Amino acid sequence: MPDDGGLRTKPDTGFDPEVAEVALAGLRATVKTLPARLFYDEAGCRLFDAITGLAEYYPTRTEMALLPTVAADISEVLPAGAALVEYGASDEAKASFLLDAGEFAAYVPIDVARPALDRLRVRMEVTWPGLLVAPVVADFLQPIVLPACIGERERLGFFPGSTIGNLDPAQVERFLGEVRITLGRQARFLVGVDLRKSRDVLLPAYDDAAGVTAAFNRNLLVRLNREADADFIVGNFRHEARWNDAEGRIEMHLVSTRAQDVRLAGDIIRFGPGESIHTENSYKFTIAGFSTLAAIAGWGLARSWTDPAGLFSVVLLEQASG
Ligand code: AVJ
Repeated sequence: MPDDGGLRTKPDTGFDPEVAEVALAGLRATVKTLPARLFYDEAGCRLFDAITGLAEYYPTRTEMALLPTVAADISEVLPAGAALVEYGASDEAKASFLLDAGEFAAYVPIDVARPALDRLRVRMEVTWPGLLVAPVVADFLQPIVLPACIGERERLGFFPGSTIGNLDPAQVERFLGEVRITLGRQARFLVGVDLRKSRDVLLPAYDDAAGVTAAFNRNLLVRLNREADADFIVGNFRHEARWNDAEGRIEMHLVSTRAQDVRLAGDIIRFGPGESIHTENSYKFTIAGFSTLAAIAGWGLARSWTDPAGLFSVVLLEQASG
């Protein structure tokens, strides 16, 4: 997840000053927000995993179904011996499609969670003997230095899952510019982007009938009770998914069902009835809109793959001035 600042590498026990600080800053503001990266503690990762299997949540399975074709097509243009650099790689499930189809020499998974990267490396020693696996523990919104051991190999960056949708347009621009610097002149960048569609499809994907997404959203408050010394009554906040048409994004909110005061890290946060905490943005793109954003950061659209229903795209960017 973006801009984690190492939050996920900490054990989920007790007070965490970084979590408290970031929560306090977001909740003291006139429009209350919490950063989406806080979702992914241990329970949050399990809940997100459950979301990806929901009937209403189309992105994961739609992207997965595209990847074999994407991988086969890319293996035709990419020379043998390239390095695959994955942004936000908590496991190798999606990268495996690319590794299977192409002749990669190296795999560089980048993630903030060291334990997950350690487990990934151990697994891949068995499943991919001979592949150089060089994990980088880092927040990928910060400048990344690739491990020297991958040398001057051709690079394919990979950012699946439409995680890019968590970033606002200015952040996307900055991020794509950073990636361009990290990967170098000849690089390509493969990005999963969720597409604009009817709100009748979008809203249930973020407000499922079984209430898993609601639990995922509310888990933020459970986490703050534990790690920011807070006393949220979780039942006093209702999950809400909204489509913001002007911004082209799904928003998740936690709405206070009453006037209430909540203690957090020694401070008191006041909530009015119906006041919300804005917890996530999930931008939805058109291919044209996304390639315009990419162009500002110096990337050109080389190709894209979309499912027949037009739900999700995998987009291949290349250096515009390459
Ligand atoms: C992991 C950011 C891609 O925006 O769809 C799922 C997170 N939030 N359900 C998304 C999420 C609510 C997800 N991303």
